[in-house]
Amino acid sequence: MCGIVGIIGHEFKVSDLIDGLKKLEYRGYDSAGVAVIDQNGLYVSKSVGRIDNLKSVVETEKVVHGGIAHTRWATHGAPSDKNAHPHTDCSGKIAVVHNGIIENYQELKNELIEKGHKFKSDTDTEVISHLIEENFQGDLYKAVLEALKKLKGAFAIAVIHSDIPNIMVGARKGSPLVLGCNDERCILASDVTPIIKYTRDVIFLEDGDVVYIEGNKAKVTDFSGNVVIRKHTHISWDESAAEKGGFKHFMLKEIHEVPEAIESALVGRFDEDLKPNLKELDEFNLEKVKRILLVACGTSYHAGLVFKYFAEKYLDVDVLIDVASEFRYRPIRIDDNTLTIAISQSGETADTLESVRAVKKAGGKVIAITNVVGSTITRESDITLFMNAGPEIGVAASKTYVNQLIILYTLGLYMMKKRGIWSEEHNIISKQLNESPKIVRKIINNEKINQLADYYKNYHHFMYIGRGINTATAMEGALKLKEISYINAVAYPAGELKHGPIALLDPTFPVFAIAPKDSLYEKMRSNIEESRARNARILSIATEGDEEIKKISHDVIYIPEAHEDLYPLIIAPVIQLFAYYIADKRGYDPDKPRNLAKSVTVE
Ligand code: F6R
Repeated sequence: MCGIVGIIGHEFKVSDLIDGLKKLEYRGYDSAGVAVIDQNGLYVSKSVGRIDNLKSVVETEKVVHGGIAHTRWATHGAPSDKNAHPHTDCSGKIAVVHNGIIENYQELKNELIEKGHKFKSDTDTEVISHLIEENFQGDLYKAVLEALKKLKGAFAIAVIHSDIPNIMVGARKGSPLVLGCNDERCILASDVTPIIKYTRDVIFLEDGDVVYIEGNKAKVTDFSGNVVIRKHTHISWDESAAEKGGFKHFMLKEIHEVPEAIESALVGRFDEDLKPNLKELDEFNLEKVKRILLVACGTSYHAGLVFKYFAEKYLDVDVLIDVASEFRYRPIRIDDNTLTIAISQSGETADTLESVRAVKKAGGKVIAITNVVGSTITRESDITLFMNAGPEIGVAASKTYVNQLIILYTLGLYMMKKRGIWSEEHNIISKQLNESPKIVRKIINNEKINQLADYYKNYHHFMYIGRGINTATAMEGALKLKEISYINAVAYPAGELKHGPIALLDPTFPVFAIAPKDSLYEKMRSNIEESRARNARILSIATEGDEEIKKISHDVIYIPEAHEDLYPLIIAPVIQLFAYYIADKRGYDPDKPRNLAKSVTVE
């Protein structure tokens, strides 16, 4: 997730581009840059670190007619000046900013190098500027269309050429891009926030759209050049709501970003036949692994628990999981067939890092899963799988939890493929995983979750129950509720109820049952009946079409049918939204829960 802004038309200052970029800082902040066209040609300036660093190296008062800017969240190539956008071509006339991932960049780069192109960065983006140069014969729009034919992956781009200073071309496939024009100029950006200073009438470009801008006029076409008509949307948010994309809190906005975040996590990790591809892990002899040690804290631990159930179901491996603060103080047994996976969205959690160090000291290999490029865990582990969720500002993990699941499912599937355990069932899981952004889009707009939160907000206790792989979902649901709404929420594998916790149940202690149609469904129903018999109020999450569950629950939230192993992924946004709405309705700020921090760097 990166942020892009482009402005073209009547004169403006470089500082206007930087102001626009500041509004997008939430999308990434490891480096930033601008490219503008002045009387000498293209003027490019970049700086590693936050956007304020860029301000100190750029001529902010320079007056120009066109320019593009970028704030980066690294995916390919470490955060550095050379890898910061915009990227230029060999002639130094074309500049490109890009949000997304070009899957086939290495192949394209090799071809371009053979044709004599010289590359200056390690990024996937730079191939775009060279590809456009390769096709440029005076018409930037046509050159972009030609380049688009070759690009695989997800992208939103904005392109300028110093010979034609009043023209900008943008395109979108998989990553967001918004257009706004007023009488003086047009603005392209990753979201509306940099645009509303100029106009409140915007077009949310759709996948497969190209926009050709000349001064203050824009034309939208498809990738083949056919004109398409897109509707205008009027934005009525004030400035502070705009920062949160019109949402009341960052947490709500970030839950709504889940589909985009999943898409970014999937890019480049599946082949065209939808088989997983994590070739970078091949040095770890995944075929031979007999034990996997999973180490993480809090929400990341719950993601690990989902992996344990998933991996053990199909793979002939033992998966041991522990919270990092316990793991690191226990004896660590490592042999050649043991693999450790450390999960941390921040990459800075002290206990997880100490666990990584302990494993390394014992001679083990560590795969890290994190969202933050350059974080400590990336330096201390043998290899890192990045979650690519973009920055998460809300303290409670939401989209990063979902992306941890995406990476872990992909890793599990890749191990299955490598070990020759692949059947039609795995094709189904893989296909549904790749379709999950679509499914989640439907779920996050389910108004019923908000309505139910209104009813349940005044309870003082909650019992979350689940079975099998959804034991982890129950635990994550309870954690989310307690940490942001301060309601006492406990979670148990449903079969454990009768061994003690059921004593708590009465009409003041509702049960939140994670009860999708899976192979443990009948058992789960019995546990719901047991709870109901103690007069507890029952709120169930169930699979669409399940009428039976209605008879034993007071309330039901339906989710689309999916492969049973993927329910933790499908249900995650539901439990997050439920906790979010309850916290908000109780008058708390879900973005800043008391006593908690985004990265826990103390032991
Ligand atoms: C809960 C939450 C925390 C973190 C935990 C580990 O919403 O965010 O429980 O999951 O502090 O943090 P990371 O993943 O950064 O190691």
